Amino acid sequence: MLNESIRYVNGRLQVDGVPVTDMVGELTAGLPTPVYIYSLKRILANFAALKAAFASLNPHIHYSAKANANLAILRALIDEGAGIDAVSWGEIKRALVAGCDPENIVFAGVGKTPEELKLAVEAGVGWFNVENVYECFLLNSLAVNVGRTVRVALRYNPAVEASTMPGIATGHKSAKFGLNRTDLMAVLESQADYTNLRIEGIHVHIGSQLGDTAATRQGVEAALAIAPRYPTLHTINIGGGFPARYNDTQQPTYADFATMLQPLLDGYTVIIEPGRSIVADAGILVTQVLYTKAQGGVNTVIVDASMTELLRPALYGAAHQIVPVIEKPDSPAQPASVVGPVCETTDVLGTQIGLPEMQHGDLLAILDAGAYGMVMASNYNQRPRPAEVVVDGDTWRIARRRETVDDLLRFEQVDTGLPAEK
Ligand code: LLP
Repeated sequence: MLNESIRYVNGRLQVDGVPVTDMVGELTAGLPTPVYIYSLKRILANFAALKAAFASLNPHIHYSAKANANLAILRALIDEGAGIDAVSWGEIKRALVAGCDPENIVFAGVGKTPEELKLAVEAGVGWFNVENVYECFLLNSLAVNVGRTVRVALRYNPAVEASTMPGIATGHKSAKFGLNRTDLMAVLESQADYTNLRIEGIHVHIGSQLGDTAATRQGVEAALAIAPRYPTLHTINIGGGFPARYNDTQQPTYADFATMLQPLLDGYTVIIEPGRSIVADAGILVTQVLYTKAQGGVNTVIVDASMTELLRPALYGAAHQIVPVIEKPDSPAQPASVVGPVCETTDVLGTQIGLPEMQHGDLLAILDAGAYGMVMASNYNQRPRPAEVVVDGDTWRIARRRETVDDLLRFEQVDTGLPAEK
């Protein structure tokens, strides 16, 4: 959805007052498309809104780096006091490079490798969200070897059905995530055996883009049915999952979650791990029209972005609004499919998108692409991943350059004998 940062002024799409056409496109000799553009102002406004809504719970906020791990974004959030929720050594290292105190990093993940766990213990990561009985054993042995004690939250699978897309629900009982009740209790009952683990929390993330607060309540209540029996369990980590507004449908707000949680979590230390709701509506993916065709009764607009830049529509059937960068008031909107060049029938960025007549070179912006966009980009079809631009106040900069085809060849150490490209 358009918002205060990403909006039209005189028929031209702007990001915090900078016209997209000042940054992008052949016409302006600007950056090549596709390109991600993020509003830092919007990201910080979202973070501030979250803090304000949750003020009475005074939570530790660990931004979930998996949603968007660009260093400029991590740095800006860390400067505002955010910790980081990381799911790999890659994300932990990124957080450290961005200036995060290791104590403020939560290391989560269903399949942490021994090597990742060791590196994280050595780095002094503040919390380990553990999801497996054997992981407790492994982490304890590593901690003994390194000579440290580490703080643990046990990730509980509370067997609740989150109201969201099936591909991003995590709290149902057949999900691969978390410890079921039997295993959770077994670990808690034998915690004395884990000499170098301090088990201080329960973690219950039940899914992403949550459509209501009910399942979160059930998950937290399930955790609270256990926590009071163990006095060292003083922390409840509810994960992330706060929704972004991809369209006009009503969504629960931060305040709805906070109001529901406040009476339940009184007396507990609270951790939250928001990702999407901080960055989704702060980012757009700008793409250029290559061709159009009308076949089988469908108007198709072929653009230079694809599932390799934004996988969400192909992977989950997720719907993103797509708008022209320059409005064409004289051309009435017609439904169109916006598709990419990748050799896959599922390489569709949007269907039934109301667009004016499109021509080669026209720019389109895919909205709400700041979360789970660039981080899920791939090099399928040997497509270099796009640049990321950050608009910071009234200036903008390239925060990550576009990859080149030579970048992709580098891993195989070939001498192409061909000139390097820019
Ligand atoms: N904490 C845990 C343990 C998680 O698994 C996740 C997301 C988060 C926090 C952050 O959730 P958020 O606030 O962003 O909803 N690629 C999918 C989303 C996958 C979410 C994975 N876990 C998508 O594009 O919709």
